[in-house]
Amino acid sequence: MKTDEIISDVDTYILGTYGRIPLTIREGRGSWVWDNDGNKYLDFTTGIAVTNLGHSYSALTEAIKNQSEKIIHTSNLFYLEPQAKLAKMLVENSFADKVFFCNTGTEAVEGAIKFARKWGSENGGKYKILSTMGSFHGRTFGALSATGSSKYHEGFKPMLEGFDFVPYGDAESVADYVKTADLCAIIVEPIQGENGVIVPESGYLKELRSICNENDVLLILDEIQVGMGRTGTLFAYEQEGIEPDIMTLAKGLGGGVPCGAVLLNNKVAEKIKPGSHGTTFGGNPLAVSCAFEILNTIKNKELLSSVTELGHYFKEKLNQIQSEYTDLVSGVRGKGLIVGIEFSSAEKAKKTIDKTISEGLLTIHTAGNVMRILPPLNTNREEIDFALEIINKSLKEVHSDA
Ligand SMILES: Cc1ncc(COP(=O)(O)O)c(C=O)c1O
Repeated sequence: MKTDEIISDVDTYILGTYGRIPLTIREGRGSWVWDNDGNKYLDFTTGIAVTNLGHSYSALTEAIKNQSEKIIHTSNLFYLEPQAKLAKMLVENSFADKVFFCNTGTEAVEGAIKFARKWGSENGGKYKILSTMGSFHGRTFGALSATGSSKYHEGFKPMLEGFDFVPYGDAESVADYVKTADLCAIIVEPIQGENGVIVPESGYLKELRSICNENDVLLILDEIQVGMGRTGTLFAYEQEGIEPDIMTLAKGLGGGVPCGAVLLNNKVAEKIKPGSHGTTFGGNPLAVSCAFEILNTIKNKELLSSVTELGHYFKEKLNQIQSEYTDLVSGVRGKGLIVGIEFSSAEKAKKTIDKTISEGLLTIHTAGNVMRILPPLNTNREEIDFALEIINKSLKEVHSDA
């Protein structure tokens, strides 16, 4: 199909829930994608932190082929080897004792909320969930109710009962809240990705962990965006010297094949019985066999230290660039290979992102004035240098247009 035809048919036949960039992506290999007219782009969006090992990653395409020739779907009525393998690997490489499989991020958050409430119902009937302002946890009602950004609630109120919010990065306000509330869990992102790559001060999660311990409250970490190696460790919590009670994963877990998971410690897991929760597709053999291959690669120490090293390099160079455009760029932040460039206005962010796209670099426009950059974890200096060159050129043009 021609580009115009694709865009026209998508706009005609698909519900308008997305503000799309007028670009068609036809195929991808490694860090690169091609549009339907054959133009090549460096893909530093990774499908919003999903294709963490790039496109057409060979172990993933092989897993799809091999598993699809064996069995694609049966059901959780039976015991399935691919589920056993992935769950064991997740447990052996995390705080968790048990895993629940689902398909998407919002479903993982729904599961986490239900498991926390089940635990709370047997611990004095506690049911309240404390979340943070600016957070994003998903679009279904539980996850949406836990999302601390009113723009996502507009037109869908009332939200579910029992959710409250405190400022992100502020452990003191949590300590104050806990004293007055009948709280069963705190849910928090180690970095707020959708909110513009907001990195809290080191020690924040540790303080939350202590508050939870002192008040018999569960700590739920939403690592849907920043887990699976994104920050330079397999899971972001590892760098904070703490462990959650529950953790949600999705996005990068399947490397592009939809796969989500809720990881739990025994304290919570022992409250969950057959019938407590479930899903038809969760743990689908195709999805979990793909996730197994992705996890098997990402847990590799060399890959993870390369994420840290490349992340430092990228941010250092971006900071140098920023110093030349302080009227345009107000800050550079991130951890590992999640990077945010904050602009002085939403308009300047959009203009710059449009220019980078026309020069062959794909990044994400988020939180109004932030360019969010999510390279594949197995990228390299050459690709980062290419991205830096385009960002620099685009800033120069936007600067001289102003
Ligand atoms: C931290 C976090 N939680 C939950 C979600 C929801 O995931 P999904 O879009 O797969 O439902 C997202 C998606 O951006 C996310 O970043």
